[in-house]
Amino acid sequence: MKVTVVGAGHVGETVAQRVADKEIVQEICLIDIVEGMPQGKGLDMWESAPIQSCDTRVVGTNAYDDTANSDIVVITAGLPRKPGMSRDDLLTSNLNIVKPVTEQIVAKSPNSILIIVSNPLDVMTYVAYRISGFPANRVVGMAGILDTARFRSFIAMELNVSVRDIQAMVLGGHGDSMVPLPDYSTVAGIPLKHFLSEEKMEQLIERTRKGGGEIVSLLKTGSAYYAPASAAAEMVEAIAKNSHRVLPCSAWLTGQYGINDTYVGVPVKLGASGVEEILEIPLSDEDLRALQASADDVIENIKRLPL
Ligand code: NAI
Ligand code: 2OP
Repeated sequence: MKVTVVGAGHVGETVAQRVADKEIVQEICLIDIVEGMPQGKGLDMWESAPIQSCDTRVVGTNAYDDTANSDIVVITAGLPRKPGMSRDDLLTSNLNIVKPVTEQIVAKSPNSILIIVSNPLDVMTYVAYRISGFPANRVVGMAGILDTARFRSFIAMELNVSVRDIQAMVLGGHGDSMVPLPDYSTVAGIPLKHFLSEEKMEQLIERTRKGGGEIVSLLKTGSAYYAPASAAAEMVEAIAKNSHRVLPCSAWLTGQYGINDTYVGVPVKLGASGVEEILEIPLSDEDLRALQASADDVIENIKRLPL
């Protein structure tokens, strides 16, 4: 199996490293427009392989020929936001990156599955879907796993329990209108409401919604990448191993949850064919309205695209 990661910046290089460390694919191609940089990072990673005891070959390149016949392509190319910016402020600049990247990837790997990471996430996933012409199951966006991981990590910190025992679910667009679902969040199967007051729960939900911004304001020069890369690598693993994982991902909706013709975060089953199924779970009226409102925000941005 071959994976290409487009964009060898903070997220892309870390995705390559996380996927290599799992030793689940034979080859990872890391491509960027900056000359020499992906080659250097790829070689450095490969030189760590004897110590990591890992035979996944990482190769850096600036040429799309080297990406040919990839099974999975993770697109991280694009500008990250800086303090004071929203993800939506990146729409035009990242459209001008994701569109040509998708065209070049599709020309070389027409049977691949695309995992989009570039922001604004749901809109850029739509761009890749439209430009690739791929069926919707082969174009999926990474955000829900990250947002859910943030929620899980905050709950674990608050309760001083292992992150392993926290299950949670965050749906919706990857923005301020995302929808954390405490009703579907548990500590070792025990509903979260047994552990947290409503007020504390609200605080953790708010911190989750602003989780990306919290990192941006600390880093000052860019955005998060360790947790985003782990999330993207988990998606690669689910597809590479055909493990039918149930994960929140940005998927193309055609009526599910009363939402049509947009990408937005929902629970999906992820396996060898990409999105195998969109799971429609029962939601309270309030959560359903919040999910639909979040989808409306994405649709508004899709309408701004000059496609
Ligand atoms: P970065 O600036 O560290 O890396 C971006 C890389 O893309 C750079 O190396 C740049 O040279 C490369 N690039 C630009 N145009 C390219 C092109 N046409 N072809 C190939 N490579 C190209 O940024 P970082 O931190 O890696 O973030 C990347 C993107 O991922 C940003 O848009 C960011 O907002 C997004 N992101 C999304 C997350 C999510 O949850 N969906 C989480 C974290 C980041
Ligand atoms: C995040 O949530 C930048 O969207 C990215 O960290």
